[in-house]
Amino acid sequence: MNKNLTRALEIIREHDANPIGSLLGKVRSEFGISLHFARQLVSSARAVEGVPPAALANIREQAEAKKMKPGIKVSHGKSQATVRVTRQDTTFVIPDLHIPYHLQAETDAYLRFGYSINPARVVLLGDVIDAMAISRFDKNPARKTTLAGEIDIAKRFLKDLRDRFPLCDIHYCEGNHEDRLRKFLWKRAPELADIRGMSIPDLLGLSDLGIQWHSSSLRVGQLTYTHANRIRRLAGQTARAMSDEWNSSVICGHSHRQGWCPRTTPTGVQDGYEAGCLCDYRRLDYVDNVPNWQIGGATVETFPDGTFTVDFARFVDSGKRRCLVWRGRRVGELASRSQGA
Ligand SMILES: [Fe+2]
Repeated sequence: MNKNLTRALEIIREHDANPIGSLLGKVRSEFGISLHFARQLVSSARAVEGVPPAALANIREQAEAKKMKPGIKVSHGKSQATVRVTRQDTTFVIPDLHIPYHLQAETDAYLRFGYSINPARVVLLGDVIDAMAISRFDKNPARKTTLAGEIDIAKRFLKDLRDRFPLCDIHYCEGNHEDRLRKFLWKRAPELADIRGMSIPDLLGLSDLGIQWHSSSLRVGQLTYTHANRIRRLAGQTARAMSDEWNSSVICGHSHRQGWCPRTTPTGVQDGYEAGCLCDYRRLDYVDNVPNWQIGGATVETFPDGTFTVDFARFVDSGKRRCLVWRGRRVGELASRSQGA
């Protein structure tokens, strides 16, 4: 193991019970590095050995004690929220989960990987919940599903996400599956549509979890994060269409594919990225054959001048093993693949 990581692990063990600020201060003075690099070093050290439960619990306690609920503001408008980046940081992107039809093992592995890279923020790209119970499409009558049940499972997932990333801003972009509730109410029970609390962000308790809701999109630096409101057949083309619509570089979900489609214009290059998905097509009634979907997600490095780089994280199968690959290396491995995946 790298000598610095070994020493960082020793410091983590010695200062496990101390506040995170004290631990980072010790690492900074030991290595003579900035707070930013101290965080990265501690994160890397933990990733090597796994997350010490006590250290994680300690961070959770501090977040709770300080009532640290980053990004408490909840936006229901159609305007685009903007995050200004003052130093290079990392965004961990989680595309379409379709809870409760997500790939449990892959999602767990992906979240563990996310923790290891110490992101500044987490962005859920929409379709976090499937809302099959109120879908207008044909459903298997044998499936016992209710919206209340789906919401309960999604709430547990979001609580777990907040626990895993206690100090991160968490953003939630609305997808077309979240919008199913509005469509259902407008069509079937318009009298109930404006009752307080009858919305996905309220039903999921996002405000209590300090998760920011974006019904339109979020912009971090020069990149727009959105679900996408249109679909194209080939990977990258959906993001291309969204990029053209926003006149901006875009990363989106919705297609469940991974792809990149840049366009050079007289004013520069606009990139369109599709991040993939973490859902199990075999459990979705509206999917007939093997769809052209890719399982995984993406990370984004954003620089103070607004420029960015995107890296896909993709699950690849090698025999019976399924690995998560990112930046040319294996960063996660499943003990067993999800049932039906
Ligand atoms: Fe989706």
